[in-house]
Amino acid sequence: MENEIKKKVMLSGIQPSGDLHLGNYLGAVKNWGARAEEFDCYYFMADLHTLTVRQNPAELRRRTLEQLAQYIACGLDPEKNTLFVQSHVHEHAELGWILNCYTMFGELSRMTQFKDKSAKNADNINGGLFTYPALMAADILLYQADFVPVGEDQRQHCELTRDVAIRFNNIYGDVFKVPEPYIPKAGARVMGLGNPTSKMSKSDPNGCVFLMEKPEDIARKFKRAVTDSDTENCVRFDRENKPGVANLMNIYAAVTGKTFEEIEKEFDGCGYGVFKPAVGEAVIETLRPIREEASRLLADKAYLQKVYSDGAEKASYIARKTLRKVYKKVGLVEKPF
Ligand code: TRP
Repeated sequence: MENEIKKKVMLSGIQPSGDLHLGNYLGAVKNWGARAEEFDCYYFMADLHTLTVRQNPAELRRRTLEQLAQYIACGLDPEKNTLFVQSHVHEHAELGWILNCYTMFGELSRMTQFKDKSAKNADNINGGLFTYPALMAADILLYQADFVPVGEDQRQHCELTRDVAIRFNNIYGDVFKVPEPYIPKAGARVMGLGNPTSKMSKSDPNGCVFLMEKPEDIARKFKRAVTDSDTENCVRFDRENKPGVANLMNIYAAVTGKTFEEIEKEFDGCGYGVFKPAVGEAVIETLRPIREEASRLLADKAYLQKVYSDGAEKASYIARKTLRKVYKKVGLVEKPF
């Protein structure tokens, strides 16, 4: 064990503010399982982050557990990955506070997610929404993460995390590893079925396919998917002029492993009326085992509890070490117990 080369650390979180959907799966979670051999992986339910927007408490609790069950069902083996709930590791909130004091008002004001979310929640522009990136920096820096797999929309937060880490290190010496974002190729980016120019999102439920959704509902959503207003009615990859068809092809490619060329050939002369339900079917078959396994796990509360307790214990062990160092560096008196 001692001679084992230390693996690089990878860490990511998803907010349990909505049910996981096909975009989360194809763009992120699906690829996570295979990384455990190469990296030391941490994945967590970012429940503290969800509180920046008003939540229904019972729903938040349900979704947090459901998300854990879904992570596992999507192939994240709890024996090989550290899976935990953010609020169970109190070091996140503690380092979050410290980093707030090293993150500038001007930097936070430039965050596009803050601007978007405050526009959407004009009656609840709270302090947490504004300082959220400092908590996200804490999430990452506590574990000395090398890589942070996120979507393009989180790039700015990752850049800020790097800036804060560098700033802190410049003052106090090498405390934090400066992490790098790990952004998958555009290929895995899933767009809404109702609006193929914006990312698939729970805020447009009709254009969004959830992992736990019933097959008949998935089929209906694909049948109604927006295709393009051209008169061509032909399955051809052209992201610029045919974004709707390109998105469906992208999804089909991701779930079947086929290339765009193969897909064009397969549906040559078929038209959208055949293509759309076929994509729906392929998605249904991909999600079926995930849904069934997640439901089975959700019924086994004791098992889930064991997974997130073990996860929090492992995570705390690492987080504690970093936090202790930080407290010491900034000048807090060491706790005698
Ligand atoms: N901010 C991320 C999002 O909204 C979620 C998140 C919170 C996260 N903490 C993180 C992602 C740390 C990666 C690493 O999607």
